[in-house]
Amino acid sequence: MAKMWAGRTSGDTDKLADDFNSSIHIDNRMYRQDIKGSMAHAAMLAAKGIISQGEADILINGLAGILDDIDSGALEFDMSAEDIHMFVEQILTERVGEVGKKLHTARSRNDQVALDIRMYLRDETETLIEALSELVSVIADRAEEHKCSIMPGYTHLQRAQPITFGHHLMAYAMMLIRDIDRIKDARARMNKSPIGCCALAGTTYDTDRRFEAEKLGFDGICENSLDGVSDRDFCVELMSAFSILMMHLSRFSEELILWSSWEFKFVELSDAYTTGSSIMPQKKNPDMAELIRGKTGRVYGDLMALLTTLKGLPLAYNKDMQEDKESVFDALDTVKMCVAVMTPMLATMNVRTDNMLLAAQKGFINATDLADYLVKKGMPFRSAYKISGQIVAKCIAEDKVLETLSLDSYREFSELFEDDLFEEISLTTCVEKRISEGGTSFGSVEKQIASVREILSK
Ligand code: ARG
Repeated sequence: MAKMWAGRTSGDTDKLADDFNSSIHIDNRMYRQDIKGSMAHAAMLAAKGIISQGEADILINGLAGILDDIDSGALEFDMSAEDIHMFVEQILTERVGEVGKKLHTARSRNDQVALDIRMYLRDETETLIEALSELVSVIADRAEEHKCSIMPGYTHLQRAQPITFGHHLMAYAMMLIRDIDRIKDARARMNKSPIGCCALAGTTYDTDRRFEAEKLGFDGICENSLDGVSDRDFCVELMSAFSILMMHLSRFSEELILWSSWEFKFVELSDAYTTGSSIMPQKKNPDMAELIRGKTGRVYGDLMALLTTLKGLPLAYNKDMQEDKESVFDALDTVKMCVAVMTPMLATMNVRTDNMLLAAQKGFINATDLADYLVKKGMPFRSAYKISGQIVAKCIAEDKVLETLSLDSYREFSELFEDDLFEEISLTTCVEKRISEGGTSFGSVEKQIASVREILSK
């Protein structure tokens, strides 16, 4: 494609340099935003009398035709073009003639690209937020189903206290709700229009930046033209939110992998989201969960790449900034794919409540409740803690659990033990009594589910 900037130079650059310089293979996905932005620009130029209304109509119709043709596949991207902005303008000029050359009045590719990325990310994050809400809603449904399913809760990956599977799941729902919030926050800050900042300093034409911003659905304009074309903090901010989201999905995936092992057998992922081994017939591998965990590193990498690219750049635009899109698009695509896989994987997983309960019965996870029993009968906590530890040691030595040790044996440790002890240390009681807000009791988990559903319904 001929160089539109040929003038000062002849435009004969080296083929290798052209390929190196070109970004159309990356930025062609912003064609819709680029065209919509140009339509608004043409309308503004006419509204301000910089071009005639007739000229604007020709430009806008020509742009609409290009949009239709790209959508339908009738017009293919020319990969020898420098970028999507050059491509659209060149095709427009081919189609509508000389007037096409007026479109780029009072703007630069520097503000144009900044505009396109913001619009593109605005559209994409909207669908991402919908997908995330669906994921949280599936988690809440599964939590409701398992609000009474007892499992061991862990600290240091050691069985700690009994909780319900519903309670465990809702922890992730809460994290993801904050992730949605973070993306919404970043999106709101991003929604300021840079168009009209031009190359860096603004323009001598009597433009109306707010007219264009409003037409394109922005909440306002970037108030400093250098800032508008120079910063990509909105990409960094979104990628930070994506990284935190991926960290959550990765921890969740790690648990799914662990729970799918023969050692745990707490869940069985559907065949649709696992693979077999090419050599070991017994295997069912949680590949999708492993990939989500693995791709987390990739999203962190995208964030680091852009932060590093930006850190030494003087104002205003520098070509280094063309690298922004590779990072932010890769992060976005990765996150979208991970969320899309996670949702049905959780919806279809089979939960082995029998094994969860068995594991909960084995780990002395009611030892805290045993100590609390003595405290309620008047013993200071530290003494109760010590006695409970000694009882656990005795059980281990005799291959017993707290529920199967006889009352007589208990009374050797303290006269405070009575018949009501066994009811007090039953796993159901342990869970049901944790009624503090946010705790694991059935009622508390129900409240958490209701609260998350309420947030989702807004
Ligand atoms: N493809 C370029 C980018 O993505 C567009 C802006 C080019 N501006 C310039 N002055 N060369 O950053």
